[in-house]
Amino acid sequence: MVDMDYMNYNKLETLEDSIKTELVDVIVHGVVVSNLAVLLAKELGEDEAFCHELAIAGVLHDIGKIKMNRCLYQKDALAVEEMKYFRMHSFYSYDVLKSLGYPDFIQETVFHHHENQDGSGYPHNLVGNEIPYGARILHVCDVFAALTSKRSYRAAFELETAVEVMLEETKNFDIEIFVAFLRVLHSDAFYDVINPEEVEKMSEKFTKYMFQSHLLDKVTLEAEQQEERTISK
Ligand SMILES: [Fe+2]
Repeated sequence: MVDMDYMNYNKLETLEDSIKTELVDVIVHGVVVSNLAVLLAKELGEDEAFCHELAIAGVLHDIGKIKMNRCLYQKDALAVEEMKYFRMHSFYSYDVLKSLGYPDFIQETVFHHHENQDGSGYPHNLVGNEIPYGARILHVCDVFAALTSKRSYRAAFELETAVEVMLEETKNFDIEIFVAFLRVLHSDAFYDVINPEEVEKMSEKFTKYMFQSHLLDKVTLEAEQQEERTISK
């Protein structure tokens, strides 16, 4: 078990404001997705070892976003070229975790968390069971967490509305996993894992862990270099 108290959380304060904001968003969203994914994996009958790796993939799945150009986030709509660039975040997440020696299961889960069951997702337009199992689980939780979160261009959807939106897009999901997710939504544990206070506590712990594992040093340094290149253009 990693000692998450090893690093000083105040190190977060030394980061650029833009990176700090992005980092907090990525981690908080990651923790919600991670918690939901573990509940879902348990519902699907997976064991502790599987759930442990899936939990890590859940927290870190969007870590590559920190490397993305800040200009992307200052607008409501993205141009096609920007959208293509934005879609590289799953590769960046994968690339960072690969370079740090994370297990293959975590790497592939993160890399493919935006693949859709019908082949319309990215980065590889994988179809059905071509999509790694962990990625199929994460995808359902990621979409739900995104819909029920506030965005710059819309308010957060209520749970029922989010489910309605997802029901209209079931072509994107592994149907067995999606049905299991609907059962999870009706379980007592569901509200515990999305409790804002718990999520905040866990987010703080994971931030410490990320500094400890040098993961944040790597992504934030690369983000700063990316930003410098953009400014100097
Ligand atoms: Fe993502």
